[in-house]
Amino acid sequence: MKTIPVVLMGCGGVGRQLLHHIVSSRSLHAKLGVHLRVVGVCDSKSSIVVSDVLSMEFDDKFLLELCQLKSNGSSLLRISTTSGVEYQVLTNSDSTTKLIDIAALLGKSMGLALVDCSASSETIGVMKQVVDLGCCVVMANKKPLTSTMEDYDKLVSHPRRIRHESTVGAGLPVIASLNRILSSGDSVHRIVGSLSGTLGYVMSEVEDGKPLSQVVKAAKSLGYTEPDPRDDLSGMDVARKALILARLLGRRINLDSIKIESLYPEVMGSNVMSVEDFLDNGLSLLDKDIQERVNKASLNGNVLRYVCVIEGSRCEVGIQELPKDSPLGRLRGSDNVLEIYSRCYSEQPLVIQGAGAGNDTTAAGVLADILDIQDLFPEK
Ligand SMILES: NC(=O)c1ccc[n+]([C@@H]2O[C@H](COP(=O)([O-])OP(=O)(O)OC[C@H]3O[C@@H](n4cnc5c(N)ncnc54)[C@H](OP(=O)(O)O)[C@@H]3O)[C@@H](O)[C@H]2O)c1
Ligand SMILES: *[C@@H]1O[C@H](CO)[C@@H](O)[C@H](O)[C@H]1NC(C)=O
Repeated sequence: MKTIPVVLMGCGGVGRQLLHHIVSSRSLHAKLGVHLRVVGVCDSKSSIVVSDVLSMEFDDKFLLELCQLKSNGSSLLRISTTSGVEYQVLTNSDSTTKLIDIAALLGKSMGLALVDCSASSETIGVMKQVVDLGCCVVMANKKPLTSTMEDYDKLVSHPRRIRHESTVGAGLPVIASLNRILSSGDSVHRIVGSLSGTLGYVMSEVEDGKPLSQVVKAAKSLGYTEPDPRDDLSGMDVARKALILARLLGRRINLDSIKIESLYPEVMGSNVMSVEDFLDNGLSLLDKDIQERVNKASLNGNVLRYVCVIEGSRCEVGIQELPKDSPLGRLRGSDNVLEIYSRCYSEQPLVIQGAGAGNDTTAAGVLADILDIQDLFPEK
């Protein structure tokens, strides 16, 4: 039987779903000879850690209570439990010191998987340090891998000990597939992908002749967008995913070297207009231009998709005209689609398609990443 000690940073939609998946997969994991021993959980303000990380763990009852507490919007500081677990609660700076202590204690003996399901840049420092202490890191958070090249190099310095499948396309096997292609010496020369469920939905609805303003409002009410839809329309999230892919292909570039097309102009930015104002007055001013572009593409037998393109020295994110009869051209709704062209997939690309967001699939991707590093943990 192998035991994987786990510390989880981030207890939001994805982090909580991960804890639920861990609890409900207990008997499956037991059959596989693996046990996930959760020893710490952190949110933005605090962390809670078992009193003895060498021998103890949070039991399932405690983990579920903790999820309940967080989904009520409380802080971890407010935890109280009837389960018998002995734990410590730490705030801010103490919390970082504690995580490093745990990593130093477990890293080179029992091993530790530090899992980042936050949406913060603040985790980068800890992540870099634990990598040096012999720990494994698993991320759904895109920020650490899209920071400076220096941070990136440090994080990937032990490739066997890092997994980040859910940073691109949620649970879809994008990173794993690319790594397999690359490690066989096959050279990837072009990647084109629709990596935002929101923008995928928006572009296919606009293609049907619906006004952009109406489509964005509908997407918002369906819960497809961020609370401020401009966070999707800016293309920034897609750009982070593109950067992760480009760096995986060996490109040494930063976020600011990616050409990003925003679907709204700067004068409608969040520092100029409120969300309400943008939705009620700003958006409709953009309808005509996008419709003209849709019509023009259609005359060429093409459709518009909001995609990332990585090819040669090119890495950009924005609207592209693509053949109607291609995997991306056929895309409808909120699926993600990635076309990978390489020596082995030169005429017809390797295509990866499916839901590219959602707490469930994202957390499933994270859990699969943790199971994927089990061989690095000692038997006992
Ligand atoms: N949801 C998806 O479909 C999806 C898909 C792919 C990737 N992802 C990525 O997965 C990550 C998590 O997404 P989410 O939807 O679960 O986000 P979320 O609901 O906003 O949760 C973020 C969590 O991180 C915690 N946090 C913030 N700063 C932290 C810090 N410095 N240290 C430790 N924890 C910190 C927050 O604490 P508080 O509770 O105190 O605020 C919160 O619990 C994000 O990076 C996101 O981009 C999400
Ligand atoms: C993910 O979880 C958050 C927090 O529980 C919730 O608000 C959101 O609706 C969930 N998203 C999906 C797609 O289920």
